[in-house]
Amino acid sequence: MKKIAIIGGTGDLGYGLALRWAKAGKQIVIGSRQEEKAVKAAEEIRKVLGEGVTVSGMGNFEATKSAQIIVLSVPFQFLVPTMRQIRDAIEEGDTLISVIVPLAVEIGGFSPTQVVTPWQGSAAELVQSLAPPGAQVVSAFQNMSAYRLQDVENEVDCDAIVSGPKNARKEVMELARLIPGVRGIDGGRLDYARLVEPITALLIGLNIRYKNREGIGIRFTYVNEEI
Ligand SMILES: NC(=O)c1ccc[n+]([C@@H]2O[C@H](COP(=O)([O-])OP(=O)(O)OC[C@H]3O[C@@H](n4cnc5c(N)ncnc54)[C@H](OP(=O)(O)O)[C@@H]3O)[C@@H](O)[C@H]2O)c1
Repeated sequence: MKKIAIIGGTGDLGYGLALRWAKAGKQIVIGSRQEEKAVKAAEEIRKVLGEGVTVSGMGNFEATKSAQIIVLSVPFQFLVPTMRQIRDAIEEGDTLISVIVPLAVEIGGFSPTQVVTPWQGSAAELVQSLAPPGAQVVSAFQNMSAYRLQDVENEVDCDAIVSGPKNARKEVMELARLIPGVRGIDGGRLDYARLVEPITALLIGLNIRYKNREGIGIRFTYVNEEI
């Protein structure tokens, strides 16, 4: 079974993904800049889910090295330093998942409902530009609420658009399906992340106007899943 490292798994979204995949029986490594913080988050997950789950905590570099699927779950302004920290631990064929939304507020903008466009086109493509050539970079889970993921007693009622190279995309769509209520939607090549990341800014605006702090989700209808 492939191990999943979640870099930034001590934070809101990464912790939620770790909880859900640990619950589904996956082997999870929480990564942090501080090993103790990662170990503590892993202990917390075992407390919530019971000792039957396989979750450990390590520094970001060691976590990346130990896993074949690596989720990059840090705020946009820390994307570059984090990629520099883990780059040499990423091996040929590893799947690298970007959940990052390039929100303007994270680099000094005022509105939480606006995104910036990196030169590469999207945060996911910026990740790709910093990853070793053999890594399979996929974008996914940017439109999912961390609150809903952490609420493990309930399903997460939303779709996850997954973009990237075909085989890795299929693999991540399977991971999406492991979260009860979630469906992976085939979002095509990685550059389609340019369209997916800004949806989160739209959702943040909806959450504000509809006073929904738990988070509104998206669903696509009439998708022919036989294909
Ligand atoms: N929150 C959501 O509902 C949500 C939804 C969809 C997408 N996202 C995306 O998911 C990503 C993570 O969001 P989040 O809300 O989980 O973020 P977060 O909780 O604010 O931070 C995640 C982790 O980033 C690391 N970090 C903090 N400061 C750092 C620094 N100076 N340098 C390097 N790493 C640092 C921390 O890990 P350590 O201190 O352990 O290293 C922290 O636990 C973001 O890109 C966001 O756009 C979030």
